[in-house]
Amino acid sequence: MGIQTTFVMVKPDGVQRGLVGNIIQRFENKGLRLVGLRQLTPSLELAESHYAVHSERPFYSGLIEFITSGPVVAMAWTGVDAISVARNIIGPTNGREATPGTIRGDFAMDIGHNIIHGSDGEDTAAFELGLWFPDGTIEWTRDAESQIYE
Ligand code: RTP
Ligand code: MG
Repeated sequence: MGIQTTFVMVKPDGVQRGLVGNIIQRFENKGLRLVGLRQLTPSLELAESHYAVHSERPFYSGLIEFITSGPVVAMAWTGVDAISVARNIIGPTNGREATPGTIRGDFAMDIGHNIIHGSDGEDTAAFELGLWFPDGTIEWTRDAESQIYE
């Protein structure tokens, strides 16, 4: 158990369907802390680096085409065991099999168009955070009380 930062990305289908706010709300509600946020249409080079581990798989070319098809929202979330906590919020790959209450369980009907990505381990998280947030993430701690009163 320890503090981790994980990489999470709303895929083009999630952005096009207007689910970004709902998705961010789930991570905030859980108690994770947002330390990076970027919207961009991924370049071919970025998409191929991100999914290099799948380059020999039959679905790879379709996956690259999909992920570069429009804007995504890239995020970095921090908290205790953030990597597995985020994966649990996201749910399993196939939306039809994902339990209701998870993001994929609530919003996805497909394997490829499954709304969201989350890092699957510490090494992957470090690699993906460096790839999508080359300038690093944001340092801050919660202090709501001091924001309520001037
Ligand atoms: P992700 O990496 O996006 O968080 O998803 P994941 O760990 O649940 O799934 P992974 O096995 O890493 O696969 C990466 C993404 O590739 C697409 N995929 N398509 N058509 C297929 O059989 C197939 N299998 C995987 C999905 O978009 C999956 O999220
Ligand atoms: Mg994966």
